[in-house]
Amino acid sequence: MSLLETIEVTKQFGGLTAVNKVSMHVDEGEIVGLIGPNGAGKTTLLNAIAGLNPPTSGRVKVFGEDTTGLAPEKMCHRGLSRTFQIPRPFPKMTALENVMTATIFGNRKGKVEDPAAHSREMLKFVEFPEPEETVSENLNTVQLKRLDLARALASAPRLLFLDELAAGLTEGELKDIIKIIRKIQDTGVTILMVEHIMQLIMNVCDRLVVIQFGLKIAEGPTKEVAQDPKVAEAYLGKAH
Ligand SMILES: Nc1ncnc2c1ncn2[C@@H]1O[C@H](COP(=O)(O)OP(=O)(O)O)[C@@H](O)[C@H]1O
Ligand SMILES: [Mg+2]
Repeated sequence: MSLLETIEVTKQFGGLTAVNKVSMHVDEGEIVGLIGPNGAGKTTLLNAIAGLNPPTSGRVKVFGEDTTGLAPEKMCHRGLSRTFQIPRPFPKMTALENVMTATIFGNRKGKVEDPAAHSREMLKFVEFPEPEETVSENLNTVQLKRLDLARALASAPRLLFLDELAAGLTEGELKDIIKIIRKIQDTGVTILMVEHIMQLIMNVCDRLVVIQFGLKIAEGPTKEVAQDPKVAEAYLGKAH
């Protein structure tokens, strides 16, 4: 069953068509990679689905229902959660308090008995490398991305969007994040991830959707798409 389906989703910013009639789907249990050059429209497509920046035209179906234009908090309560390319936690709050905010206000299942305990569990699950009482403005980019992931998981999503979660990671950290992504999948969460790092894409993605200049140019099983000349050309230019 498709947990997510977009039907000719278009997003325009003034004269710029950032996403152009993109139809794609994500089935239950899959990890799908959304890839394409910088500025291709990947984040815009995630935002259009998740309610942050509703589509100009086209339809979005999540969990079998038409959710086009629903606000992000509504999508979150239905079970769609996401991380951000640039995480922005409440800077003066501790790591734990930031995750608790998501636990208390975003949980799909409603009231969580012990929000602090649940939030600690999320920090442990993502192997958050700092003490839970660290004030968020003191975290570096890599730590912020881990915190953002714990926050996204705190709402108990069925469908999770990851936007360049692994950007800037060292080789060792990349291995850790691959392990964590698999652990998330094992808990029954379906994942759509925007990613550039080939090692991660080839390791975890069942399928890829490729966009360039807002248009879907390829989709299919990871290995096939990775060998598609159109895809290499989109990244490297015609000479290749
Ligand atoms: N809020 C916005 N207002 C105007 N233009 C935007 C906005 N968000 C994104 N864009 C433009 O839309 C295009 C796609 O951006 P984006 O979705 O961020 O690309 P990607 O995530 O694939 O790198 C870019 O040309 C970008 O400048
Ligand atoms: Mg982006």
